[in-house]
Amino acid sequence: MSIEHHDVHIRPVREEDRDAVIGLAAQLAEGVPEWRDPGAVVEAARQWLAGYFTPASQQPGAVFVAVAGGEVVGMVSVNTHRHFTGPVEAYIGEVAVAPHAVRMGLGRRLLGAAEDWARGQGLRHLTLETAAGNTTARRFYAAVGYQEEAIRFTRVLDRLRDRPDTA
Ligand SMILES: CC(C)(COP(=O)(O)OP(=O)(O)OC[C@H]1O[C@@H](n2cnc3c(N)ncnc32)[C@H](O)[C@@H]1OP(=O)(O)O)[C@@H](O)C(=O)NCCC(=O)NCCS
Repeated sequence: MSIEHHDVHIRPVREEDRDAVIGLAAQLAEGVPEWRDPGAVVEAARQWLAGYFTPASQQPGAVFVAVAGGEVVGMVSVNTHRHFTGPVEAYIGEVAVAPHAVRMGLGRRLLGAAEDWARGQGLRHLTLETAAGNTTARRFYAAVGYQEEAIRFTRVLDRLRDRPDTA
């Protein structure tokens, strides 16, 4: 049955969601630049997601999932960190929606759950990072009210032996 025919709800993650949540890791390699290893990105994402199901992960943050017809089709994680100017802020670790469930408002609802959690903690800002090349995510965040704050630059360095002028 198509997802439009199901009621979708957002709820806190449960142990039984583990495989479905980790299965969203591949979504998190969107927009990876050519100088990074996409396989390594997916593997790192798998580890982050698996980390939410380890006993040691009794962290202060929260993870919410979107469920349609009993199937987990999206997730968001939110935690706190201290901004360099001092205040503690909420921070989105990951947000991902399964390919067959995108553009149905689930991403917006998942962020809404993270925002409610952050408000409940008395926090004033919610921040996140995404790949500069992830145009879908950048359009999504802009559409749901997030403003760009920082940009990270990378220079891919030549090998010294390829640069005789520096010898
Ligand atoms: C980014 C992502 C979470 C968005 O989830 P979603 O459920 O499709 O988003 P929504 O349906 O709530 O979209 C809300 C609005 O965002 C904008 N938007 C979402 N996807 C868009 C796209 N591909 N192109 C342009 N605008 C887009 C639209 O304005 C949309 O509203 P509309 O559908 O009424 O026009 C989803 O595409 C995804 O999982 N991507 C892969 C993982 C990822 O990149 N995560 C973020 C980086 S960590």
